[in-house]
Amino acid sequence: MYAFKITGGIPLNGTIEVKGAKNAVLPMMAAALLTDEPITLENISYLSDVKIQAQLLESLGVKITQHDNAITLQADHITSRLAAYEFVSKMRASFWVLGPLIGRFGEAAVSLPGGCAIGARPSDIYFSALESMGATVTIENGYVIATGPLHNADISFRRISVGATHNTIMAAVLTKGVTTIYNAAREPEVVDLINLLNKMGAKIKGAGTNKITITGVEKLHGTTHSVITDRIETASFAIAAALTKGNIFIKGGHKEYIEPIADILQMCDVKLTQNKEGLSVDGHNAVLRPTSVTTSEYPGFPTDVQSPITTLLALAGGTSFIEERIYENRFMHVPELNRMGAHIIVLPNDTICIKGVQKLDGATVMSSDLRGGMALVLAGLVADGTTIVKRIYHIERGYYKLEDRLSALGAKIDRIHITD
Ligand code: EPZ
Repeated sequence: MYAFKITGGIPLNGTIEVKGAKNAVLPMMAAALLTDEPITLENISYLSDVKIQAQLLESLGVKITQHDNAITLQADHITSRLAAYEFVSKMRASFWVLGPLIGRFGEAAVSLPGGCAIGARPSDIYFSALESMGATVTIENGYVIATGPLHNADISFRRISVGATHNTIMAAVLTKGVTTIYNAAREPEVVDLINLLNKMGAKIKGAGTNKITITGVEKLHGTTHSVITDRIETASFAIAAALTKGNIFIKGGHKEYIEPIADILQMCDVKLTQNKEGLSVDGHNAVLRPTSVTTSEYPGFPTDVQSPITTLLALAGGTSFIEERIYENRFMHVPELNRMGAHIIVLPNDTICIKGVQKLDGATVMSSDLRGGMALVLAGLVADGTTIVKRIYHIERGYYKLEDRLSALGAKIDRIHITD
């Protein structure tokens, strides 16, 4: 097992680059199933989640070639329409092969993803959308068996779901007629998936709004697409600049995608300046101030930055509240932060009350999910003394070579081998 050993208290200064968003790359890799021609995705990092998605697609017969910061996928000889438990159980995004498989081949068998550390995460919205399109959906031995043929439909999601939006769009692009999704997700990653699909010859309108219209086409073709940069990494590094009173240039970072976080940082006298290369975050004069945060769908405060912002507010001068509205169990970082000296109380109704403290102390802590793990790294960067963050395989799902990139900013962070 590996852990991060971090010595805190060093202001981070310099340039850090963010590459293609994990949460955009993963559905785009699934979208490669929709054509027999090659799809090249540029500007990507080989995160562990990208590797799992690649392994799953290879098990279906997709040919994959890796280049420097790019990947080419070709689905010209699909040998299986079954996405096995061994892949889907590791990562929910692998469930998203369901839409393209049924959309192109009229059938799919995909292991159910099940629950995960941050919440139950059911799949009912995916199923009712496919059923509205004429699919028969049954659950057999832990697998979703979906069979077509599909027809066009008007679909209204009972709540906004990023994954169900990806999946339904991919199921509908090759389906005759016009399919409309109401209450669709507006996340930049959904917009970028639509951009890719339209480059492949799809006819999709309404990207970035909650009404998406898909006019089915007979065939899609190959293309090359540069993936949008990772807004959750951008926000995490911006928070690191504020916490350590450093000055970081986030190459590839976009302020417009992290507005709710930028608002909080600016309230704390952090200076954010956007140019065409990226986002500069100057935290030299930062004064951390309390606030209230409620997570919600884009363009609201992203749930994926809820844990990192908890670390910032743990050191703010006053009392803050965070209400988590997307997941029912996303506060596992709280007891670990409290072990570092934070004063955070978990209240009923998915809310925490954070009473700001003057400093955090280094401790041995354990990450239990990707973003919760990043919250602990951020805490380690600013804490007195040494912090050991265990179970960093969670963090490495979404942050590429974190120790090298933070070290280049002056941080004292090493990836060490431990016996757990
Ligand atoms: C995506 O997950 C992201 N994952 C998550 O990022 C992110 O937290 C989430 O969107 C919300 O922004 C990827 O893009 C790979 P949802 P997704 O369907 O699509 C409920 C990270 O840290 N729901 O929008 O699976 C669900 O339980 C991760 O990078 C149903 O009830 O999320 C949740 O409460 C973790 N029924 C809410 O909707 C369904 O059929 C939103 O989930 C589907 C979802």
